[in-house]
Amino acid sequence: MKKKYDNNIDMEKNSNGMLTVKNLTKKFGTNVVLDNVSLTIENGKTTVIIGPSGCGKTVLVKHLIALLRPNSGEVYFKNHRIDNASEHELNKIRTHYGFLFQGGALFDSLSVTENIIFPIRQHCKITDWKEVEELVKSKLAMVGLDGFQQFYPSNLSGGQQKRVALARAIALNPEIILYDEPTTGLDPIRSDVINELVLKLQKELGVTSVVVTHDMKSAYKIADRIVMLHNGKIIADGNADHIRNHPHPVVQQFISGQVGEEDLAVLRMSGAISQTQFLPRDFE
Ligand SMILES: Nc1ncnc2c1ncn2[C@@H]1O[C@H](COP(=O)(O)OP(=O)(O)OP(=O)(O)O)[C@@H](O)[C@H]1O
Ligand SMILES: [Mg+2]
Repeated sequence: MKKKYDNNIDMEKNSNGMLTVKNLTKKFGTNVVLDNVSLTIENGKTTVIIGPSGCGKTVLVKHLIALLRPNSGEVYFKNHRIDNASEHELNKIRTHYGFLFQGGALFDSLSVTENIIFPIRQHCKITDWKEVEELVKSKLAMVGLDGFQQFYPSNLSGGQQKRVALARAIALNPEIILYDEPTTGLDPIRSDVINELVLKLQKELGVTSVVVTHDMKSAYKIADRIVMLHNGKIIADGNADHIRNHPHPVVQQFISGQVGEEDLAVLRMSGAISQTQFLPRDFE
């Protein structure tokens, strides 16, 4: 199965890592979102990206799959430069990726099976339906939802929908999976099911994962490495203990969920709190 639906781009294995970002700068107008960011995503590892809302996590992840083009800098998938690749080339390269985007919903009018085979249809001509049925069954079993093939998204809970989206993300046996806020909107137990699935896919399929999350509990549980973005730069990069003990006050503030000066300023400006209400020391 894997062979048949794999694409055949010839790409050298590279010791540097699965994805490499070199000196990436991305601006929207005058808003510099990523400022000369360099990062290597290691093969077979789970890298978690954290940082305050609006700091550029989604923008960074979109560059990893060339859904956004940088103003300057380079992005490589293995040794293959993708930031300037043609859409035709990217179509092939993206078959090596699975992605679960923020708010990335299922197609409501398609059944679970049809949702899962959607990426297969995009890249291959299906001839053997029996084989595809087995593939859908195995992907659903992987996320604990075999038997839900004929359901429609509206008949599934939020957590089940995320798991179907994950089954869809792994339909083409990706080498790398990008997750943007996979647990947002889920209760702690459903969130933990997703965490376990991320770990399981890494263990059983050896996939490389990049996970954007606000949820530090998830981050500590699944990460081999945690990267924190702030003001367009990486300000912390290391394993869970490194982050827990990081000396940077912004890192400590973020991981302990404290309200920062900038957030207080926004709240004051919006009139949600008075000018004198909540001084930073209130949160110490
Ligand atoms: N297509 C776009 N056009 C203009 N500005 C954009 C675009 N996409 C993102 N931005 C801006 O880039 C910045 C980073 O956005 P991004 O979505 O990456 O934040 P984020 O860290 O993922 O936040 P959140 O945690 O809320 O998802 C924001 O200021 C946003 O307004
Ligand atoms: Mg985002």
